[in-house]
Amino acid sequence: MMADVSTLRRVHIDLGPESYDVVIGEGALEGAGPSLAQLCPRGRAIIVADPAALAHHRARLEQVLAQHGLTPLYLEIPGGEQAKSFHRLEALCAELLDANVERQECVIAFGGGTIGDLTGFAAAIVKRGVKFVQIPTTLLAQVDSSVGGKTGINTARGKNLIGAFHQPSLVIADLTLLASLPARELRAGYAEIIKAALIGDRALFTRLDTLGLEALNGEGLAEAVEAAVAFKGDIVRQDEKEAGVRALLNLGHTFGHAFEAEAEKGTLIHGEAVALGLALAFRYSARLSLCAQSDARAVEAHLAKVGLPAFIAELPGGPYEAEGLLNRMKDDKKNKGGVITLILARAIGDAFITSECASEDVLAFLHDELKPQ
Ligand code: GLY
Repeated sequence: MMADVSTLRRVHIDLGPESYDVVIGEGALEGAGPSLAQLCPRGRAIIVADPAALAHHRARLEQVLAQHGLTPLYLEIPGGEQAKSFHRLEALCAELLDANVERQECVIAFGGGTIGDLTGFAAAIVKRGVKFVQIPTTLLAQVDSSVGGKTGINTARGKNLIGAFHQPSLVIADLTLLASLPARELRAGYAEIIKAALIGDRALFTRLDTLGLEALNGEGLAEAVEAAVAFKGDIVRQDEKEAGVRALLNLGHTFGHAFEAEAEKGTLIHGEAVALGLALAFRYSARLSLCAQSDARAVEAHLAKVGLPAFIAELPGGPYEAEGLLNRMKDDKKNKGGVITLILARAIGDAFITSECASEDVLAFLHDELKPQ
């Protein structure tokens, strides 16, 4: 496709010497071709690709590479959480070493968040660090995991417990790559956009609510992705290594992760659990009189408008029970001294971090949420 470079949006992630751009829009792949060529000085593009994504977009990707004199070297790894294992990491590092990757070249991740997380971690440790580029092919990865430099793998003891902060050199968020995405995946990715608005941008929430389903298409989507990426970029600029304010990006995730861990395997998508988690964080905040009931209702109404779950009964993968969920929340990485850390809200656009919620109170809330509404 021809890229109309003038319509592309560019968000600069300002991290001093580690700064980079996120190029957003339909045709971002073509538009970012010259930058990609600069990052591949040996004339080859080492691409860690999910074969499912590659099947849809290979011809177009190769056309862009050819236009810039780049030859692809594909290292194919199926996406999904199973990609984020020691075994896959070891195999990928071996392949990168066999390809004699050099520090001045970059490794390109082409796929969803799991491919980006694995590739980024391999790039962080091979030869003590090579560059990498993210070309996310899911909305979730475009608005969240590809930006901010969190990379890593899972272990039997939990998700993302082994990893590194390693910033990409470029992120290409081409919205036409999302055309092959099932509607359910697109909606789930959108939950991370709503999350950004709920944490710190009430005006964005109002705008998204006005757009409704239009925020999932065309210019509405481009605007929403740009706003979410700019919001995240600003938080990462303030707190790259998550010593403080970056933990806000976990709004909805402490509840959400608990549902993901308890759900019947393969039934739930991350963004769906996050959507419910957002509604729960606001209802719990309202229950504690921290935020207005009307804000909690507005969050529920918006989730319903875009087809995302706001109540436990709407979430696939159940039945769920309160004690099991609370135990999962107690395992959360953010907790300190065994006390649950939650991200709650004073209002839409005003989230905060707290460790002052008693487990018994969270448990009582979950019991109430599990009662038929
Ligand atoms: N996904 C949360 C973060 O990047 O900090």
